[in-house]
Amino acid sequence: MPTVADQRVVPAPRAQALGLLGFDHLEWWVGNARAFAGFLCSGFGFEVVAYAGPETGRDDRISYVVVQNDIRWVVTSPLGPASAITAQVATHGDGVHDIALRVRDAAAAYDEVLRRGAAGLRPPEVLDDRDGRVVVATVATYGDTQHTFVERSEYDGPFLPGFEAATLPQSPGPVVGLDVMDHVVGNVELGHLGDWVGFYERVFGFDQLTHFDDEQISTEYSALMSTVVWDGSRIVMPINEPAPGRRKSQIEEYLDYYGSPGVQHIALGTTDIVAAVRALRQRGVRFLEVPAAYYEEARDRMAGVDLPWADLADLGVLVDRDHDGHLLQIFSETVAGRPTVFFEIIQRAGARGFGEGNFKALFEAIEREQERRGNL
Ligand code: FE2
Repeated sequence: MPTVADQRVVPAPRAQALGLLGFDHLEWWVGNARAFAGFLCSGFGFEVVAYAGPETGRDDRISYVVVQNDIRWVVTSPLGPASAITAQVATHGDGVHDIALRVRDAAAAYDEVLRRGAAGLRPPEVLDDRDGRVVVATVATYGDTQHTFVERSEYDGPFLPGFEAATLPQSPGPVVGLDVMDHVVGNVELGHLGDWVGFYERVFGFDQLTHFDDEQISTEYSALMSTVVWDGSRIVMPINEPAPGRRKSQIEEYLDYYGSPGVQHIALGTTDIVAAVRALRQRGVRFLEVPAAYYEEARDRMAGVDLPWADLADLGVLVDRDHDGHLLQIFSETVAGRPTVFFEIIQRAGARGFGEGNFKALFEAIEREQERRGNL
């Protein structure tokens, strides 16, 4: 499937020096890992492949590993009140704790990012079991979010040492067909976008892929600014900050409920968004609604592109184009207990953008939800 990454000509050299190979997994810290993993399976078509907990020798937490094609997420919850996970879930609610990156050499990547100014949270550690060895090392990023480097070229097990292969009863429902993590988006506080973009440039050697200012991303009520940083290949991370508007920005609402910067949304790539969204809707997933008028405007904007308009309008899929091609996308309602993190489903047909042409329609839909919560 074409991704942003396939079109990169010159890789970012200082990112390459870290030996980054892509997203390895996300780890969610949640109140009830069994229930959240079950929701990802029944709603979004994931499958449980591995488990760790007291039965496997871990006495403070349980984790389920869920996968769908190249997407791998770990869902973890604490087993007691003294756990660091309990404190974080109390602060943030359910959310993404770790954006783990696969690397060639975890110790070398860790040493290099510390030399470039990152804060180390866990020095390189070798984990092994009968399936081989993995090296992990962790550094801090925005809020309580972290990046773990995972070196797994010598490992054959279901996830990491300490996990055992596991399944949950298969959820009935049509195949969804989500393939990859296209991008992972963070929200940071007002005035701090530049600091975090600088952090990813300086420490990770990332390039700026694109920037949107509050003129481009504003509605009648609220505004935000966004810069997309990436490693020049497969790791694409937009960062948003709120901008002053007439009322409360959706980014401020996120920061209030999450209690700090954190992951706002995860975009999941598919090669057939019509089939994917039809399956997700049949499985009970709810999406932001777009007004019918959106499609009149969109047909004009997309003149010359052959699209299944009736299906798109029926399913609420949004469309956008740039000079490289077009993309189709849709946004879920928030998926945690608090109105914080949500998912995007995206199909790229050449386009490298992020749906700029949809921001206004999208944000107006988000604001309708905000208004229902009394936060606009
Ligand atoms: Fe996105």
